[in-house]
Amino acid sequence: MKSSGKTRVCAIIGDPVEHSLSPVMHNAAFKELKLNMIYVAFTVTRNELKGAISSARILGFQGLNVTMPHKNAVMKYLDETVSTAKSIGAVNTILNNEGRLVGYNTDGIGAMRALKENSISPEGKKLLLLGAGGAGKAIAFQAAQEVEEIVVLNRTSEKAERLAEALGKKFGKKVKGESFSSEILKDEMRDTNILVNATSVGMHPDVNRSLVPRNLLRSDLCVMDIVYSPLKTRLLLDAEAVGAKVVSGLEMLIYQGAVSFEIWTKQPAPIKVMKEAALNKLEEKGVHR
Ligand code: ATR
Repeated sequence: MKSSGKTRVCAIIGDPVEHSLSPVMHNAAFKELKLNMIYVAFTVTRNELKGAISSARILGFQGLNVTMPHKNAVMKYLDETVSTAKSIGAVNTILNNEGRLVGYNTDGIGAMRALKENSISPEGKKLLLLGAGGAGKAIAFQAAQEVEEIVVLNRTSEKAERLAEALGKKFGKKVKGESFSSEILKDEMRDTNILVNATSVGMHPDVNRSLVPRNLLRSDLCVMDIVYSPLKTRLLLDAEAVGAKVVSGLEMLIYQGAVSFEIWTKQPAPIKVMKEAALNKLEEKGVHR
């Protein structure tokens, strides 16, 4: 699609953004659906955030993705933030709805969709979430609407406790937040159905690290990792080796992007095309499938 006077613009803003996979993923999707839209990346520093949002408004951008370090700070410049994003305390997607900027968080929805698309149903399940950072929080707030029970373990215990308290208040479900220790992990793993690593442990170059010893993994588990470099982390390799079902961080990345795409275009995202574009870009960076 050649750009024209009617081309709609979407962009990612953050610092840094030059390594983002979102431009290739969304541009491939726009092309596939023959939409007259384009996706670009802008480095925006903390001091420039307010100006960047007001520029996006004036220039009539269709949508934005927001990444580090602006996911929280951006909320005060929007006209509205949906309730889950408010609870998470982070916006990663903005829709320009005829001049009104509305903030969403698609990370958690993307993670849950990645599970479901891999035939993993959350209903009635116990989810053990490792990590209570930005990604952990987003997954927890979405998962709490769908699973039976959530346990959050985090190296810094206060963050896990605070998250569990907020989840308990909002959803009235069985939730627990504790510090990460090998004893607690062993104990909680016994009746866990879905295990999600939402920490950065296992990310390149620390590719041999995993928070979960292999002897705690079972064939009836579903294991998802948010890390996508490498595509198969130590945790996922170990889980696969014992016959567990695994979902890679790339799936979560694709589906969070797909949800943003659908918010902006109101059309089903072409998942296969987005995945292929992201995989090709990762390959260029030396992350092999
Ligand atoms: P993100 O937005 O990707 O979640 P983040 O908010 O910095 O990033 O959170 C990173 C998560 O990984 C946190 O849960 C962090 O634990 P702390 O809250 O204790 O910092 C977790 N994490 C990072 N390195 C870790 C390690 N070596 N061991 C255990 N947890 C780790």
